Amino acid sequence: MVSGQFISIEGGEGAGKSTQIRLLAEWLESRGIETVTTREPGGTPGAEAIRELLMSGSADRWNSRAEALLFAAARADHVDKLIKPALVAGKWVLCDRFVDSSRAYQSGGSGLADADIMALHAIGSEGLLPDMTLVLELPLAEASARAAARDGAATDRFGARNATFHENVAAAFRGYAQQDNNRFRIIDAAGDVETVHMHIVQAVGALLS
Ligand code: TYD
Repeated sequence: MVSGQFISIEGGEGAGKSTQIRLLAEWLESRGIETVTTREPGGTPGAEAIRELLMSGSADRWNSRAEALLFAAARADHVDKLIKPALVAGKWVLCDRFVDSSRAYQSGGSGLADADIMALHAIGSEGLLPDMTLVLELPLAEASARAAARDGAATDRFGARNATFHENVAAAFRGYAQQDNNRFRIIDAAGDVETVHMHIVQAVGALLS
């Protein structure tokens, strides 16, 4: 059976994920590859409804455990109704964040066990993993300046957390990438948009052969 490729793009706030996903989708489409772009939390009506619960309200609206369960529930719907059907149809899926964000934010940032996040993922999404995960890395000071320029005062429940939280998230992403250099590629996101795009194309090109 033909199957498309599943690529997730990860990184902290302000790393430039949205721009790079758009450019990568255009690049793939220009090579005749049908591409679906989506995001987490969200991507389907059910998962977008859960996103609304997760992103709005005060920082302590949910504890880390409730949060992890909500992210896993949103992901279960997204995988079942959008990601798997697209892959089975031979399309490529580009996903802005996936399970590694739960690992980095709810485990690395908030202290839950990584094994518990993966257990929730096994229950919710049959443990589906991307074929490739790009981690966009940017020094924290630059990332928060970019995120502030983009979001202004409208930061969400996660953006509003302190520098230590975001440092732990960044360290977690790097750690997961170092543990599995088969699936992960670390992308230096500090350059200009075109340079970063070129690095991404080099990494993703390996999936085309
Ligand atoms: P979003 O507005 O999509 O942010 P960004 O532009 O940074 O991707 O918000 C998603 C937020 O949710 C982001 O702060 C990361 C967080 N998050 C988790 O904590 N766990 C998860 O599993 C996912 C998918 C996101």
